[in-house]
Amino acid sequence: MKGLFVTFEGIEGSGKSTQMKMLAAKLEELGKPSLLTREPGGPPIAESIRALLLDPGNKEMLRETELLLYSASRAQHTGQWILPALREGKIVLCDRYYDSTIAYQGAAREQNLDFIAVLTRFSTFNTVPDITFLFDLPVEEGFARIGHRQLDRLEQEDRSFHERVRQQYLLLAKEQPGRFVVLDATLSPMELHKLIINQVLTHRSLK
Ligand code: TMP
Repeated sequence: MKGLFVTFEGIEGSGKSTQMKMLAAKLEELGKPSLLTREPGGPPIAESIRALLLDPGNKEMLRETELLLYSASRAQHTGQWILPALREGKIVLCDRYYDSTIAYQGAAREQNLDFIAVLTRFSTFNTVPDITFLFDLPVEEGFARIGHRQLDRLEQEDRSFHERVRQQYLLLAKEQPGRFVVLDATLSPMELHKLIINQVLTHRSLK
């Protein structure tokens, strides 16, 4: 039995985590348990890498180191959690995956996209999500939603950085319409939930 791998992407404050929780609760109710996880992070080794990546004190981190650490976290997470869960036929819901690397380390930090593609195939064991929900919304609105909480190292980047992230996501979605579902993240949580559950339950892998 093959599972279903669903990823959630978007700029900061796009509301993806809330929607993931709503989806996981609904799937549970329908008797389809899922693994709810996130990147960077997941298993303990990958969570330790997450702490390094997001620590606002790590101001000297080179963009090369950053790219390798996101990839290292992904390799551990994919090999230890995601692939075994998919092999058991589970639905895996992952908050961010390699599209984040293309958008943040590729477009926003201007690192080589061909190299990132090679690194991605290596660190994911060639795993590609079945569905990727892109929560699209204007950068200003995303930051307004975050409010005044303590920002992590990436969130502290300026508006133009996050605008490059947004535009790269939209480009990826345009290039891969079979995998991406672009959502207007300004819709109400219930409207978004309905769109998402419908896409997941009608996916060919669950038939
Ligand atoms: P989160 O705040 O959504 O948990 O994500 C952590 C931060 O890491 C967020 O600012 C996006 C960033 N990120 C990357 O830059 N590259 C990646 O590959 C991933 C997964 C996240």
